[in-house]
Amino acid sequence: MTSAERNPGADPDALLDLARDAAHAAADLIHLRRPESLEVHTKSTSTDHVTQMDLLSEDLIRSRIASARPDDAVLGEEHGGSIDPTRVTWVIDPIDGTTNYLYDHPGYAVSIAACAGGSTLAGVVADPTHGRTYFATAGGGAWCEYSPGPDRVKAPPRRLALGEPPPLAGMLVATGFGYDPRRRALQGRVVAELLPRIRDIRRMGAAALDLCSVAAGRVDAYYEAGLSIWDLAAGQLVAAEAGAAVEALEGGPPRPGSVLVTHPLRISELRDLLTDCGVSHSIEPETT
Ligand code: IPD
Repeated sequence: MTSAERNPGADPDALLDLARDAAHAAADLIHLRRPESLEVHTKSTSTDHVTQMDLLSEDLIRSRIASARPDDAVLGEEHGGSIDPTRVTWVIDPIDGTTNYLYDHPGYAVSIAACAGGSTLAGVVADPTHGRTYFATAGGGAWCEYSPGPDRVKAPPRRLALGEPPPLAGMLVATGFGYDPRRRALQGRVVAELLPRIRDIRRMGAAALDLCSVAAGRVDAYYEAGLSIWDLAAGQLVAAEAGAAVEALEGGPPRPGSVLVTHPLRISELRDLLTDCGVSHSIEPETT
């Protein structure tokens, strides 16, 4: 039985339409109406920030969801909430890649997932600086539309599917680092071991986009320990629907604390390599 069948009333295509509409509106808000000066506050550490635009973006997404589906639950990075196993829960990252946003560095995203029955039914990751929106429904494939600007003169969406994977030594591998300095020191040691054994590393700064980049073939793999559920929920569906294996670093289903994504033919080898490089399998999400 599919998760849509286990959740009657939760039609993935209808959830996707709402998620795309809200993600585009929020992406336009943060990108086109970026203020001259950002109000910046710190969260878990001195390098973990929130701006007024993170809050406004989440408010906008919440209000679109509340108007269309007032009975659903919502969990967002900035205003909290929780997953309700009895209802559709919307999991929102109003700006993934906040540090990129702060520095006006390309590569931040709005991430929205509709989850029910323990899985993601629909997910959208909108990347306004590159004009790309990635989206997927469970069983409906992963897609990318190129639609720069508010007019959204769209080319038809392109279906995403992983190609032949390179050998491990030829892989371009994305990863990310948490905000806690002790965690970063450990993550840096893993990268130092890994770097001579692969093509190269990319640290792009937005986990949701890293997951979509595997789907789009822009990197060959992505791993990170210590994400939060809102970083992961939408992008993992896009990657999986493009044919990637999306697992925990130690194997089994992915969880925010532990994610490894690559072509199914390479996942065991890459897991062994990362383990050899000392990757931690048990970093839990930072609290913000
Ligand atoms: C962060 C980004 C980053 C990842 C961090 C996340 P935020 O999310 O996704 O790429 O490495 O682990 O916390 O704070 O920009 O929403």
